[in-house]
Parts: sequence; C-alpha cells; structure tokens
Amino acid sequence: MDLKSSYFELYGTNEITQYRWEQLLSIMEQAKKTRPSALKKADREGNAWYQSEKMIGMMLYVDKFSNNLTEFEKRIDYLAELGITYVHFMPLLKSRDGNNDGGYAVSDYLMVDDKFGTMEQLERVMKLLKKKGIRTCIDFVLNHTAKEHIWVQKYREGDHDYDDMYFMFEDDAIPKEYEKNLTEIFPEVAPGNFTYYEDIKKYVMTRFYEFQWDLNYRNPQVFNKIVEVMLTLANKGVDIFRLDAIPYIWKQVGTSCMNLPNVHKLIAMMYHIIQQVCPSVIFLGEAIVEPFEIVKYFGDQKTRECNVMYNASFMVLLWNSLATRDVRLMERSLSIDYGIPKGGTWINYVRCHDDIGWGFENRILKELGLDPERHKQYMIQFMEGRYPGSFAIGELYEYNPTTQDARNSGTLASLCGLEQAMNEKHMYKVELAVKRILLLHAMVIAYTGIPLLYSGDEIGQRNDWDYKNVQEYATDSRWLHRVSMDWEAAEHRGDLSTVQGQIFSKIQAMIQIRKSSHYFSADYRSVPVDTGNNTVFCFHKEDKMLVLANFSEREQWVDSKTFDWFGLPGEMEDLITGRRVRSYHNHIQLGPYEYLWLV
Ligand code: GLC
Repeated sequence: MDLKSSYFELYGTNEITQYRWEQLLSIMEQAKKTRPSALKKADREGNAWYQSEKMIGMMLYVDKFSNNLTEFEKRIDYLAELGITYVHFMPLLKSRDGNNDGGYAVSDYLMVDDKFGTMEQLERVMKLLKKKGIRTCIDFVLNHTAKEHIWVQKYREGDHDYDDMYFMFEDDAIPKEYEKNLTEIFPEVAPGNFTYYEDIKKYVMTRFYEFQWDLNYRNPQVFNKIVEVMLTLANKGVDIFRLDAIPYIWKQVGTSCMNLPNVHKLIAMMYHIIQQVCPSVIFLGEAIVEPFEIVKYFGDQKTRECNVMYNASFMVLLWNSLATRDVRLMERSLSIDYGIPKGGTWINYVRCHDDIGWGFENRILKELGLDPERHKQYMIQFMEGRYPGSFAIGELYEYNPTTQDARNSGTLASLCGLEQAMNEKHMYKVELAVKRILLLHAMVIAYTGIPLLYSGDEIGQRNDWDYKNVQEYATDSRWLHRVSMDWEAAEHRGDLSTVQGQIFSKIQAMIQIRKSSHYFSADYRSVPVDTGNNTVFCFHKEDKMLVLANFSEREQWVDSKTFDWFGLPGEMEDLITGRRVRSYHNHIQLGPYEYLWLV
C-alpha cells in the first residue's frame, strides 16, 4: 500500500493534512532511530513466527494472576512449565480510578498502572519472558480513552490543538441522527451512545461506558498520536498488539458505525507503519462480529491488516455442540470458506474475559430445522443453568427483560459442569465435567490457528461469586469468570488424583504434542468431515491427521468406511495416548467425551 496516498485520501489534500503527514513521518523516523538493537535484530527475521505450531497463548490480568509485575516474575516458570509461548496481559496501562471496565478506560498510554508496577518493571518482565521463549501481547485500547485522559485534560485547559480529539457536539441534533442507526453495546449498564456534560456544555460520543470517550479518527492528529504511543510501546519490547474493539473506530452518521470501509483503511495504514518501523511486531484484532466481517480484518494479500483474529464463531459453536450434543451446526459452519488470505491466522479459544454472545449462522440453524430465536433462548438458559438437565452454572450478561435477550458469563469449568458436580459432591459428574474441559481444550489446541488459554482454566477454576461484593464489579457479571489465580489449588497440579492434576497434566501433554508435530502449524488447514454421527465432530488436516471428538456423555460409534479415503480402516495411532486405533466390525468406538488425534 502507498501510505502517503491513503493518508491524503482519508484526510483530504490541504495544509493541515500536509502538516500532520510530516509530523507522522517524523514520529516514524524517531521510532526507527530509537528502536533498541536487540529488537532490530529480531525485526530482521520478520514476523512469520506467529504461524509456528509452537505458539500457545495465555491471557491473564496481572493483579488477578500475581498481584503485580514484581510477583509476576516468580510465576514465569509456571507458564513455561505449562508450555505457554505468549502471554496476553489484559489492560495494564494506566486507567482511571474507580470503575474502568477492567482497564479498558486508559488515562495514560505511556504509563503502567501503579497497581501493577512501572513501565521499567514491564520492560524487565518482557525481557525475562523472552529468555524463556515467551512473547508479550498487550491490550491496546484505541477506540476510546478514559474521560480523564491527558488529551481530555488538554482540551479542558483550552489547548486548541486538542479540540477535535473526541466527538463533541453543542446540541443533540447530530447525536440524535447518529442514534437512529446505532445499537447499544452495554444496554443495561450504559444505555445510549452519547453523554451530556454540563461543565463543558457538550454532548460527547460514549459508545461503551460513559467514562469511555470515543476517539475521533477523522482528525489526523488522533491517528498520529495513537501511532506514536503504539511505536513507543513496540520499542519497549511488545510483540503483539491486541487492537481492542476495532470495528468501532470509524464513525459515520446514517450507518451502524461498525466495520466501515475506513476502519479497514486505518488498520491497514497502522500495519504498514509497523512493517516499516518494527516488522517483527504483529496485530491481533478484536472484532466480535459476523464471521464474514471478521475475516475482512485480515486484509488481503496486497493490503494486510491484522495477522491474527479471534475465532469467536468456533468458540460459540463449541459451547453449542456441548449443550446440544449435536455437532452439525459446528461442522457446517466451519465448512464455509471465507477466503482467509495466506498468513491470516485464528486465535482459537474456549473462554476469554468477555461474555459469550450467541452469534450463529441463522441460515444453517434453519436448515437444521431450528428456530434461531428459540435456539438462542435455549443456549442462554442452558448456560445460565436454568434449562432442565443443564450441567452449566453461569449468569446472564446484559439481560433485557423485555426481549429476554442476553449473553452469558461463567468460567470454563463452571460452564462445563464442575461447579454443579462439586456442589452435589457427585463424583461421576466431576469426572464428566473434567472430560468436557479437556475435550474443549483438545479442540482449540488441535484446530488450525493459535490456542489461547484463559488463566485458571488449566486447573479448572470455578466461578468467583464474590465479585458481587466489590462495588465497581457488582453490576458487570463478566467478573464472575475473571477469577484470581488459586495458587494453592495449582500446587496440586502434579497429583493426578486431583481435578487440578487431571486437567493440568493433560493440557500440558497436548501442548507438548502440538509443539512437536508440524501438523499443527498454520500450513495444515483443518477441514470438517461429516461422520454420519451427529454427536461426533471430525476434521482432517490435509489428509494427514484426523481428529475425532465425541460431544456427548454416551459412547458413540462411527462407521470407519467414512474414512476410506483417509486410509482407515487401517491402523492409526492416537497422538495423545499412543494407542493403536483399529476399527471393530467396521466401526470406531469413542467413549464419553473422548477425543482422538489420529495419524
Ligand atoms: C472489548 C473488550 C471488552 C471491553 C470493550 C471496551 O470488547 O474485550 O472487555 O469492555 O472492548 O473497551
């Protein structure tokens, strides 16, 4: 791409743009000049590292994982023991006091929040991690800042250079125009998309919480400032920027203000800039939207945008399969070819810090004879634990009493049945819950892309109901699953008679296997296969590896003739157990929630 022409196309050919363009060039020059030599050395290798089968991520909140960055250092060995090769630090830049949406309301991009430590400590941690072969990902919140951000302060002080950093309006005429096409992101806790501030007599665009002011990328200064902080952080040693909430960064009256063409232009420009200045760094985009919109954020062969994107559909489909014991929706949805460009890679995950929203391909639901609305209600109730027979215990998120719409919260273990089983002291149910936890991990570790674990899931941590007693968390049920790491429980990870030991050791083993076989690299695409059994999910990798997974608590059989083309019924080996798998009377048997990685 030609950065200069894109910049002028976006911002118009005029004196101001010319001035900002030169400013941008000097920001880039300065960053290039000051980039430490060790990082420059890494830059010479490029950024292909993220496509390796060795990539395994873990996301964590520093305070919940280790109190602060100093204590974090002592926990690096634990991450290495599990086999982690990249850590995603949830927001750790300075954020506003009080409610800050888990750090997603940044008040200073160049400082680490004092509750975690200092920028120097972060730099030290990143170096220590690197020594252990672990890369660093940080959350980069670029759609909005806290209303206390220094750019807001400058505006309040009357510095005209900061006049148009945010969307501010004298009266509500334009906000009303916008509102006609906008949905609400947090309808319950933060309804509406604008907030009136008496002190400045302005309506400000606040799409998320009231304290998160949307940045105005129509002003080239916003773009320059964001690039400047990004490059500064890259020069401190960040490998991966998680670009938060990207679909929202460009706004246009009369539209939904999501996924607009100029969003793609902005991301492509940023990507081009990091390629110029720090080419070993990559972008992870967060766009929890329809799959055909998500894949656009990979860009195309000529104009790249993000290297990796969250595979939100896979996550939702895994839960759907577990609840329904029917994998057809998953199998058919994952068979759709969205034309991902070479190099575009998924982050596969089962749980993250956010809620689970039930975005399915309605067309396929209908083909399966399901009513999309009723099916969504089923999932909402199942995951809350309200549906008869459900094994999950979770909570609703952003529940709308009028429409009954909601999303769901809960830890992986509690949603898999461990909390219910423990409450009932029901050992057989505990066994099943552990099997479900492992099954889901086996899927995201085997599927093409980068597996991302959520801290605490590797030892089966259950919901944290205490969040209700913390004032700033109480109205946001996502804190139910943002648990503090239970280091005492983690002590049992070597003891196979404990739940922690059973989960940790098996996940650790799967990670080891993944790292030592090239079938798990980005070159081996996963292609779903219809096994003829609705409860058994199957995918193959370039005819070389076959993954089979039973999504029910009942024994299942699959006709081995289904795999004639693959060499079955011959003898295959399960990579996980080393067991020889043969077909019996032309059938392959799978125990409750059993999964096989066959080669
Ligand atoms: C992203 C984050 C979410 C946050 C929102 C606003 O979606 O994942 O936790 O609330 O952005 O920054």
